[in-house]
Amino acid sequence: MLEVKSVYKSYSKTGISFRRGRVPVLDDVSFQINTGEWAALVGESGSGKSTLSRLVLGLEKADSGSLLLEGKDAAVWMKENRGQMSVVFQDYITSANPAFKVKDIIHESWKTAGGNKSIHETVESLMRKVGLPLEIKNRYPHELSGGQLQRVCIARAISTSPRFLVLDEAVSSLDVPVQAQILQLLHQLKAELDLTCLFIAHDLQTVAYLCDQIIFLNDGKIVEQIETKYLANAQSAYAKRLLEAVIRFKV
Ligand SMILES: Nc1ncnc2c1ncn2[C@@H]1O[C@H](COP(=O)(O)OP(=O)(O)OP(=O)(O)O)[C@@H](O)[C@H]1O
Ligand SMILES: [Mg+2]
Repeated sequence: MLEVKSVYKSYSKTGISFRRGRVPVLDDVSFQINTGEWAALVGESGSGKSTLSRLVLGLEKADSGSLLLEGKDAAVWMKENRGQMSVVFQDYITSANPAFKVKDIIHESWKTAGGNKSIHETVESLMRKVGLPLEIKNRYPHELSGGQLQRVCIARAISTSPRFLVLDEAVSSLDVPVQAQILQLLHQLKAELDLTCLFIAHDLQTVAYLCDQIIFLNDGKIVEQIETKYLANAQSAYAKRLLEAVIRFKV
């Protein structure tokens, strides 16, 4: 479904794009995600995860290399498959329009993508799907808890029946118990919906629960890509370090 080949990306230090003044962010990044697979992109803050997600979403261009979705350039695929790729960001507060009611937020992407079922039916069934009580549909974002608002954002993301979902730190800014609930919801959606997913996180435990494969990004480079079931056999120093931290924490 997604094929990333030798992608390089840099940003200019000063805002002026002289080559020598550029900071490399992604360095020869290659990986692929097969249809139906959930892949995690794990790395420390600043390792280039969100940059990579913006390239996948066609929001920015790579300096070189290619990002293909079903064999087509990501930006072209996005144009031809409106509503088929959705994204949920970490910052659920700014990603929902404060002047919109819950029902309008959920409806937003679906309307843009040209949905044709009645608004009522779609919003209510989506609210049920993400475990939101129907009585909050006329509330504004500031009248919701963090967990509820992130559920609203997830409902909006799946409203267009996307085939590809990007979750960029979608649970990171929630309280731990709420994180667990949202992860459970995502686990349930993974089983129910036909989705391919790029799940970005820095927490190994979270991704191991949800994803089929894990891609480790360290300082803009992919240091390992491994199926979750073989995680204990990870070879790279970076993956081992993260793994040890989890084990130490558990003991
Ligand atoms: N538009 C930009 N202009 C200049 N530098 C940028 C830009 N976007 C990102 N960077 C830099 O690129 C590097 C990678 O940033 P990115 O946001 O991709 O990291 P991340 O892995 O998502 O981190 P986090 O876990 O904190 O979200 C950082 O050093 C950041 O400062
Ligand atoms: Mg990020």
